[in-house]
Amino acid sequence: MIIGILNGPNLNLLGTREPQIYGSATLDDINTGLAHVAAELGVRLELAQSNTEGTLIDILHGWRGVVQGVVVNAGAYTHTSLALRDAFTATSIPFVEVHLSNVYAREPERHHSMLAGVAIGSVTGLGADGYAFALRGLVSTLRRRA
Ligand code: DQA
Repeated sequence: MIIGILNGPNLNLLGTREPQIYGSATLDDINTGLAHVAAELGVRLELAQSNTEGTLIDILHGWRGVVQGVVVNAGAYTHTSLALRDAFTATSIPFVEVHLSNVYAREPERHHSMLAGVAIGSVTGLGADGYAFALRGLVSTLRRRA
């Protein structure tokens, strides 16, 4: 099984970006941790990050028939991008949404997710660990469904 890990805008700056909100782990640290979880679960990962909405959509299109599921932190596009939600529904790739911060405890404009309604589930507010929880939950759901 191959799982895509998709990160959106500004997540390349993790580690230095508002550490009081997002923690001190870099995206490389998170991906290294995910590689260990993936090895334990016996799955392979495809890693991608982009600051551009269209590129995130193109990546998803390219993953059709390649990955069996996606863990996505779409950053601020979570709250705005109907196009990204359409890309998930158009490709039929099952996914789990993850956020480092508890978006529901933050500004009102972060309370709505364009993706949540078509996701398997969401992990929010658990920091970098949330990616590992999302990966475990996604793989276990896909295996149960198979
Ligand atoms: C985020 C939350 C979003 O509201 C924000 O725009 C981000 C990061 C998170 O991981 O907590 O870029 O997705």
